[in-house]
Amino acid sequence: MEFVEFLLGGWLKLVIKIRTARKEDEEFIHFNLNNDPGLRDYDSKEISGEDYPKYWVRGILADKKGSLALIAEKDRQKAGFLIAHLLEGVRESILNNIFVVKEFRNSGVGDRLIKTYESFIRKKKFKLSLCLINLDNKKAMRFHEKNGYTGGYDFRFYQKTL
Ligand SMILES: CC(C)(COP(=O)(O)OP(=O)(O)OC[C@H]1O[C@@H](n2cnc3c(N)ncnc32)[C@H](O)[C@@H]1OP(=O)(O)O)[C@@H](O)C(=O)NCCC(=O)NCCS
Repeated sequence: MEFVEFLLGGWLKLVIKIRTARKEDEEFIHFNLNNDPGLRDYDSKEISGEDYPKYWVRGILADKKGSLALIAEKDRQKAGFLIAHLLEGVRESILNNIFVVKEFRNSGVGDRLIKTYESFIRKKKFKLSLCLINLDNKKAMRFHEKNGYTGGYDFRFYQKTL
């Protein structure tokens, strides 16, 4: 995917460009993954001292087949990102993270990120997009529900360091 451009209405009158992430976006993604409470889902502190280690972000950016990373930009200023794991074999995608910089929230940037992602996986004939949302993250739940996601079971998260 090269890029798509959207003009968002509202008081900000944003022209938002969505493109695939590149190596130079690593720092932006890495910092926000480790600093936005909404993105806290699993814990790699034992391994690397932070929730999302640098190698995780690097791995996503390098893995063109199994991962999708999108960046939303306004005049080259980064406004958000989305990361998904593409499970081609079963035609399912795990929407791992969606994030919008605070000053750009509530103006449709998240909406454009998720729609661009869904149109990408639809073209690949994927059947399902899945995500996990913390029960405390009411805003993210409402956002996903507005975008057609339906809530499933509640889980307790388990992990094992290898
Ligand atoms: C969840 C998150 C990605 C949503 O991003 P966002 O850019 O604020 O989302 P949107 O602007 O598309 O939608 C938010 C609201 O703006 C409204 N909106 C305003 N202008 C809009 C437009 N032009 N198009 C669509 N929606 C618009 C939406 O209707 C929605 O209203 P609601 O909150 O009453 O439902 C963002 O809050 C975020 O980054 N949170 C922290 C990280 C996080 O929790 N991620 C989810 C877990 S991975």
